[in-house]
Amino acid sequence: MSEQITIAARFLTSERAVVHMGDCLDLLRTVPDGAIQLIVTSPPYNIGKEYEKKLKLETYLAQQAAVIRECVRTLSPRGSICWQVGNHVDRGAIIPLDIVLYPVFSELGLRMRNRIIWHFEHGLHCSNRFSGRYETIIWFTKTDDYTFHLDPVRVPQKYPGKKYFKGPNAGEYSSNPLGKNPGDVWIIPNVKSNHVEKTEHPCQFPVELIERLVLSMTSEGDWVLDPFLGTGTSIIAAIRHGRRGAGAEIMPKYVELARSRIAQAIAGTLRTRPMDRPVYDPKQTGSKLTVSPWPTIKTTEQPVLLEKKEGYSGHENS
Ligand SMILES: C[S@@+](CC[C@H](N)C(=O)[O-])C[C@H]1O[C@@H](n2cnc3c(N)ncnc32)[C@H](O)[C@@H]1O
Repeated sequence: MSEQITIAARFLTSERAVVHMGDCLDLLRTVPDGAIQLIVTSPPYNIGKEYEKKLKLETYLAQQAAVIRECVRTLSPRGSICWQVGNHVDRGAIIPLDIVLYPVFSELGLRMRNRIIWHFEHGLHCSNRFSGRYETIIWFTKTDDYTFHLDPVRVPQKYPGKKYFKGPNAGEYSSNPLGKNPGDVWIIPNVKSNHVEKTEHPCQFPVELIERLVLSMTSEGDWVLDPFLGTGTSIIAAIRHGRRGAGAEIMPKYVELARSRIAQAIAGTLRTRPMDRPVYDPKQTGSKLTVSPWPTIKTTEQPVLLEKKEGYSGHENS
């Protein structure tokens, strides 16, 4: 796929990148049955962001169900759907969207493969409950015969020097030299103000989060579609790895942003946080801000459960 890539406004399977300005259902209706290998998105959470009207939960779920139904129609038999969601909040009570959306997917006959926890370190500070520091990606497949490539997304082993100590392979290295399965808890910085990918969009997901899904659930040349495209992250992740990408976005200013970022990704000039960069640790870099200006509070006065004494992971700067 070395030809010049242009960003089309209408879906045709011969295109490489498609950005539809308008409602996602209008885009989905133009996509042939079974054409898409991966549908990945972060839908509106119905929490009153600038791009959504806060709806009654039943109305919101009915709208999501209509989109999901069309997504399933366009999904290839070997394809996957990844719905990345957090919580809907109603007068201080949280409703995890993956819980309420699960029946929509299962009633359409989809099979859940993982409920991936995406953990990040930064966000709003709550005073009446613990601050939310994870969201989930619920991954469904259309059939039991689905594409899954583990090798391109393996991560370094903790103990690569470990050897079998008994049995026929005693003395040989026991771990896979390509790395280990990344598991279903992913620690990836979210896109906050000091993240290299930050735009004016209030809730972009990081490119590296989607790259892992694209690499493991699609092959070169496959279509990746995001019905709620925002700033174009899913298409960027697709294009960077030789896949095709399509998406719909209802707000013109985000369509413009998406087009500009996708064009930079095509030109190879878009700055993104690399997939293999460890999470920034301010203690390790010797940041003075990690030294407390207050005297240490005795644990007898304020009992605390320390997760880790050293090596606390903070937010990545770039
Ligand atoms: C949570 S954001 C997605 C952000 C995206 N993941 C990114 O990385 O930039 C949801 C997006 O869906 C858009 N949106 C809301 N309703 C839509 C609809 N019916 N069709 C298409 N886009 C819609 C919103 O304007 C918003 O930009």
